[in-house]
Amino acid sequence: MTVDGIHYRSIWLDDDGWSVRIIDQTALPVELRVARLTDLEDAAAAISDMLVRGAPLIGATAAYGLALALRADPGDGGLAHAGARLLATRPTAVNLRWAVDRVTAAVRALPPAERAAAAYDEAGRIADEDVERNRRMGEHGVALIREVARREPGRPVNILTHCNAGWLATVDWGTATSPIYLAHEEGLPVHVWVDETRPRNQGAALTAWELGHHAVPHTVVVDNAGGHLMQTGQVDLCLVGTDRTTACGDVVNKIGTYLKALAARDNGVPFYVAAPSSSIDWSLEDGGQVPIEERAGDEVAFVTGPTGDGRVEAVRVVAAGSPVANPAFDVTPARLVTALITERGVTPASRAGLLRLFDR
Ligand code: MRU
Repeated sequence: MTVDGIHYRSIWLDDDGWSVRIIDQTALPVELRVARLTDLEDAAAAISDMLVRGAPLIGATAAYGLALALRADPGDGGLAHAGARLLATRPTAVNLRWAVDRVTAAVRALPPAERAAAAYDEAGRIADEDVERNRRMGEHGVALIREVARREPGRPVNILTHCNAGWLATVDWGTATSPIYLAHEEGLPVHVWVDETRPRNQGAALTAWELGHHAVPHTVVVDNAGGHLMQTGQVDLCLVGTDRTTACGDVVNKIGTYLKALAARDNGVPFYVAAPSSSIDWSLEDGGQVPIEERAGDEVAFVTGPTGDGRVEAVRVVAAGSPVANPAFDVTPARLVTALITERGVTPASRAGLLRLFDR
């Protein structure tokens, strides 16, 4: 997508042909800062410290992280160490394992001297395929927005989204935002309710920044506002992303997603999840089996943001000494999901629905 007329992806290979560039998302929305990753530790730290985040982008970064690692140590030990190091960065999004497994499978049988080049090729393919997958999800998802717009011509279609499942969370386009960007391009009137998404404010800092740069009408609301908005008829549909979709269609996504799905069900609002095939974990049935990342309590106890002069400042908002808990994801059971939007079409959130489109 573009920022001030310049096309960006969220991750790309530097002109030197080997180091990796990312947008440092901890500096947004104040500054568009580009960081350079030169080795395995840079890639692992970028994922754990959330310079990059969002399931598909975590996967692409891990793929390039393996390529960087293999430049330094292309042997079997180096490959195994790099995979384990990257897998330990964030536990919930399955795209991480998917990408590490894919690059590992692509290089394992090669002589060590050829592994780094093959890993770069595979990482490049993973990134390019992510862009294409998201664009296709957009094409399938925009039909749902078109349908609402057709029923009430002229009135904006109000869409509520949670966290950032936008182009910054992927390589380009986004998952949940892809149908929204396509709707906007096609001239359909859309308005997006953007959940702030405490504690890290991905909605307020990232989704709002993205939508603003594409002139998509939107309004940021606190996370607690969604129920009220749905109850008062101000939401036509919810559209969120997923970090892991189980084989029976349970959706594990940013903490707070489940509450939005409950409110949507109570108010008859369709609840759609943009679920690329890279997010499907065929090995798990029940979302309750997915490891839920528990992040540092300071993310809750302090509100943190960039100051504009390169610093990040933190302000305490929780009484000193009070314990805090910070589960980062929750499970929305398939029964609360109206449908999954995948790159192969819109399908029920169920094993049968997924098997109709994908060969596991
Ligand atoms: O903790 P984050 O910011 O990595 O969480 C991101 C989300 O929960 C997104 O909604 C999810 O990855 C889907 S993104 C395309």
